[in-house]
Amino acid sequence: MSITLTVVVPCFNERANVAPMVAALDAALAGLAWEVVFVDDDSPDGTAAAAREIARHDPRVRCIRRIGRRGLSSAVIEGALSSSADYIAVIDGDLQHDETRLPLMLQAVANGADMAVGSRHVEGGDSAGLSSPLRVKLSETGIRVAQLVTRTSITDPMSGFFLLRRALFEQLASRLTGQGFKILLDLILAAPSRLNIAEIPYKFRPRTAGESKLDVLVLAQFAGLLIDKLLGGAVPLRFISFALVGGFGVLVNLLVLQLARSTGLDFATSQTIGTIVAMIANFQLNNQLTYRAQRLKGPRAWRGLVLFLAVCSLGAIANVGIARALYAENGSSLFSGAAGAAIGVVWNYAVSATLVWRVR
Ligand code: GDD
Ligand code: MN
Repeated sequence: MSITLTVVVPCFNERANVAPMVAALDAALAGLAWEVVFVDDDSPDGTAAAAREIARHDPRVRCIRRIGRRGLSSAVIEGALSSSADYIAVIDGDLQHDETRLPLMLQAVANGADMAVGSRHVEGGDSAGLSSPLRVKLSETGIRVAQLVTRTSITDPMSGFFLLRRALFEQLASRLTGQGFKILLDLILAAPSRLNIAEIPYKFRPRTAGESKLDVLVLAQFAGLLIDKLLGGAVPLRFISFALVGGFGVLVNLLVLQLARSTGLDFATSQTIGTIVAMIANFQLNNQLTYRAQRLKGPRAWRGLVLFLAVCSLGAIANVGIARALYAENGSSLFSGAAGAAIGVVWNYAVSATLVWRVR
């Protein structure tokens, strides 16, 4: 019998939830030809091993173990692209989404909807599982912005629980950014025309095992996704993040310069200290934010820091050199300075991406 439904389950450190998840799907999808794909980003807790243990005896269970990569959206994309079924569902691996809604969602899409989205906010749904008032506020703000940008009235655009035809997913796949964790929003924005979305209410359950991976940083990523869409994908998100971090570095530099001056140090020494502190701060921020997915740790972080300092020093030399040459030609210090800084940041970005963080 051909497979009707592939359930894609992104997971990171969800070892204790794997077996209960398979059992829950088994109960909810009785009578359907289904399979489940756990997409694990090499979790240290052995999530992949737990999935394979079950997969050895149950051919409906598969596992994709990704090495050296992190990210909810990209995990979902890879899981979905490994499917040959008619329909694809995406559901969290921590049992917070209500899998008993899947048959209803399948029915909605089979009856003509482009997509069925499990929603906490339509009547009958409820977001009691959201852990803190901050999470609730973040989520509400995000919904409003997302409704504006998507020009839909979908009430849970942040949902990680949805179902669609595989054909539609494949059609949209090459237009997805794959960044961050808002895969549903990414899909809706990738669609050339408005999608007909059926919202299915469900109750968001509290987590019983493991812990949430989505935090305040996630809002920054979300803002990044929207900026990327507004710019039509012309400027890489990483570059925007890198440039923002650079702007912050300028402030750090000035602050430390003032502090050093106030202790009686001369200008050249103070500026040198300010520059070094700013570069270290920028390395840290880029390592935490811009290159979150391939964050350097331990000895590799130290090596990365030294490389980063070297790259940025060369960037500064290029910056000053170009600015001086331009200044000699046209005499505008504002234009020359801006051009020098622009060359500097592009150099720092391009070279540190390949040398320090080795982005493939
Ligand atoms: N492969 C992979 N890689 N899986 C990940 C990663 C990752 O980098 N980060 C998180 N996951 C998995 C988790 O293991 C879990 O199964 C699912 O993605 C959701 O992550 P949680 O950490 O449980 O998210 P949450 O409960 O805080 O977030 C909920 O609300 C969001 C909207 O506010 C979820 O319902 C999300 O789907 C939803 O988008
Ligand atoms: Mn969760």
